[in-house]
Amino acid sequence: MKILGIETSCDETGAAIIEADKNDNKVKLLSNSVSTSLLLHAKTGGIIPEIAAREQVKYIIPVISDALKGNKIEGLDAIAVTVGPGLIGSLLVGVETAKTLAYLYKKPIIPVNHLIGHIYSNFIENQESEEIDFPAMALIVSGGHTDLVLIKGHGKIKWLGGTRDDAAGEAFDKIGRLLNLPYPAGPHIEKLSEKIAKDNYRFPRPLIDSDDYDFSFSGLKTAAMREIQAIEQLNNETISDICFSLQEAVFDVLITKTLNAAKQYNVKSILLGGGVSANQKLKEEFESAIGSRQSAVKFFVPAKNLSTDNAAMIASAAFFNYKEVPWQKITANPELYFD
Ligand code: KG4
Ligand code: ZN
Repeated sequence: MKILGIETSCDETGAAIIEADKNDNKVKLLSNSVSTSLLLHAKTGGIIPEIAAREQVKYIIPVISDALKGNKIEGLDAIAVTVGPGLIGSLLVGVETAKTLAYLYKKPIIPVNHLIGHIYSNFIENQESEEIDFPAMALIVSGGHTDLVLIKGHGKIKWLGGTRDDAAGEAFDKIGRLLNLPYPAGPHIEKLSEKIAKDNYRFPRPLIDSDDYDFSFSGLKTAAMREIQAIEQLNNETISDICFSLQEAVFDVLITKTLNAAKQYNVKSILLGGGVSANQKLKEEFESAIGSRQSAVKFFVPAKNLSTDNAAMIASAAFFNYKEVPWQKITANPELYFD
């Protein structure tokens, strides 16, 4: 079966086609088109919802046409669309477009939760495609979310904990702003940290020892802010030092809590997803921590272009959780979370 995915929850406009058969463990990616209004938001240092929504309207048709390439909508089996969480104006563009196409071409439509989509970017075939065994633990780390979820099987998801305040990516972006780094700061923090080898600032690791699976990064932001304000003149070396220590603090918490949860629930696989999982250092530190615990757990990280927002993950989630809903009943829900 072939599914067209549509993703417009924030500042990326995505359309993609995946193909898979009933017994496949991973889906094949036939096309993946993404446009972003990120450069506009970089100018203002953060996303302005109204501008993001207006750009979605401009991009949606060209992006879908690009993803279709030689394919005709008539030849597809279903349309999958992100219904939330996200910015209402942005979400509506994708949802209304998907509903119109479903009505015009008489195609089934499958609503998808964006957060579950991030998990399913791991179910898209790549060169080192190993099978994902259940139960699995998923860590979703993005600009809007930091969540740990247990996956017992497709459609059997249990939320274990999440951030009480800032998401991990949000903490990077906010501290990056104080360091005068462009928005979003995550990739710049990663690049600047590469030259540093020592954790000179040793920032706090909030909730690292708490006996739940919640996260909190706003205290870390305050601690970093205090350090930054105390520095008379920020030079490149100090900025890089702060970036390195910041990454270490955030990654230490993410890895410790994920591995504790993986142990408690005796999972066979760990899956990462969301923009922060594009970070190579996070991947390496996870691998090394799993190795040092001598755990046999399999570890999966999506390809870099599938870590950040895209429509391939939405189509993939729809394939493994196929539940069509009449187009009249589909609405955007900015507050959607895990059930
Ligand atoms: O998943 P995503 O594209 O959008 C949301 O759903 O939020 O994630 C964007 C977030 C931003 O906070 C950005 O700073 C962070 O992911 N990010 C990174 C990297 N690439 C993106 N953080 C750390 N290292 C990276 N390489
Ligand atoms: Zn996302």
